[in-house]
Order: sequence, then C-alpha cells, then structure tokens
Amino acid sequence: MGFLAIIGGSGSSHFDDPEVSPRNDMPTPYGPTSSAIRRLPLVGREVLFLPRHGVGHRIPPHKVNYRANLWALKELGADRVVGLAAVGGISSGLGPRSFAVPHQLIDYTYGRHQSFHDGGDSGVLHVDFTDPYCEDLRVQLLAACAAVGAPARDQAVYGATQGPRLETAAEILRLERDGCDLVGMTGMPEAALARELGLCYATLAFVVNWAAGKDRGPIRMDEIQGHLTHCMERVVAILSALVEIGSPSEGSAG
Ligand code: HPA
Repeated sequence: MGFLAIIGGSGSSHFDDPEVSPRNDMPTPYGPTSSAIRRLPLVGREVLFLPRHGVGHRIPPHKVNYRANLWALKELGADRVVGLAAVGGISSGLGPRSFAVPHQLIDYTYGRHQSFHDGGDSGVLHVDFTDPYCEDLRVQLLAACAAVGAPARDQAVYGATQGPRLETAAEILRLERDGCDLVGMTGMPEAALARELGLCYATLAFVVNWAAGKDRGPIRMDEIQGHLTHCMERVVAILSALVEIGSPSEGSAG
C-alpha cells in the first residue's frame, strides 16, 4: 500500500514545522512543487504533506503548479491524496465551520495546465471524469469526520473559480443556479490531474465564509481567519481518524 498524501490549503501551517521531519526536494518534469514534500508522522503512520500555497502561503491559486505537485506525490509513492480546501458556503446548511466531502465539481477556472498530456510527445488523453472524486476515500473521510464529531455533508458540488479575488454576488447566484453548494479556487485542475495519474483523490472542504451575497455585507477577512483556525483544529483530528480508518485494510485505494 502506498502513502496517504495531504495537500494542505489555507490555514495548514499547523503542519509546517521543518524540525519535525526531513524534507524531500525533488525535481519534476513540470518544474518545482509548491514546496518540498515532507513526511510527517500521523498516529504512528508516515504521511506525505505538501502545502499547496507554499511555505508562508506565497503562491496564489492561479499560480499553483498543480502538475508538479501531483506528479511528485505519485513519484514519492502516494496512492491516496486528500486535498484540503477552505471554501465559501453557498447552500443553506453550509455556513461557516461546516464540513463537506464533495461528490461533484464544476470547473470555472481558466489558463491553468489541465493535463499531463499536452499533445506532441506527451500525447492526448481523455480520462473518464464522470465522478471526479475517489469514492473509497470519500467514504473514509466521511467516516473520519463522523468519528471526531465533525459530521460532514456528503453530496456537495464544489465550484472551482479562478480567483484570487472572491466572487461577485451575481457570480455566486450563477454558481448556485448551476448547482454548486461550495466555492473554492484550488479544486481544479488538482482533481483532474490526480485522475490522470490514477491517484485516489478526494477533497475535505471546510467552510470559512458565506459566499459573496449570501450574508449581509462584505466578506470579512478577520472572520475568515477565525473560522479557518477553528476548522483546522478539527482537520488535524479528522486526518488522524482517517489514517486509523484507512490503515487496517492496507489496500483500499480505488
Ligand atoms: N470563494 C472562493 N474561494 C474561497 C472562498 C470564497 O468565498 N472562501 C474560501 N475560499
């Protein structure tokens, strides 16, 4: 069985302790990863950890090197990847501090490298993406959330926007009409690239604000920060539970 890998999003500096474990710098055919990938002990197991926005949160969503990140995780032996995602809530019931494990997504991003197969020598690949997330890992994440008393919404549609600005109220109404329950900026092309590599990928989303226009007034960054801190404490517990759930069978990547 391969490693569980965690791609940290906003607020993941919890894991950011260079003293904890050796760093692993590796070149990729796609350029540098967001940062060195670290091996962290989590409830007695080694997991791979990569902060998507780099150490110190320096890389905006539209400039993340998603291809290098996924390629390097696979090269280091990952077979399951959890993408952490701080998101805005659109649907009622998905207000700040809610958790969700999306089952579908809609991609509104543009200008990002969407594939490892860009034609020429790398060929052309059309992967099936009917169900964009790995169901085995989704089920395990939902169980892990329940186990630590942070029940997560199953069946949520994640809308991936370009950022780095937040959306207008009209854009959020459009996403809502399209069927999106959540909005974030980094879910794509991460999920599609993971699928191309045959990685079992799922997103653990946690809501840090009502999406634009869903609450009175503008979105306040200080409030986002408070919700982020609250959620990240639970995320650490959820990931620990996930490792415990995933360990006994030693082979549930699918
Ligand atoms: N929109 C897009 N991405 C986000 C949001 C949002 O409201 N909150 C956190 N990430």
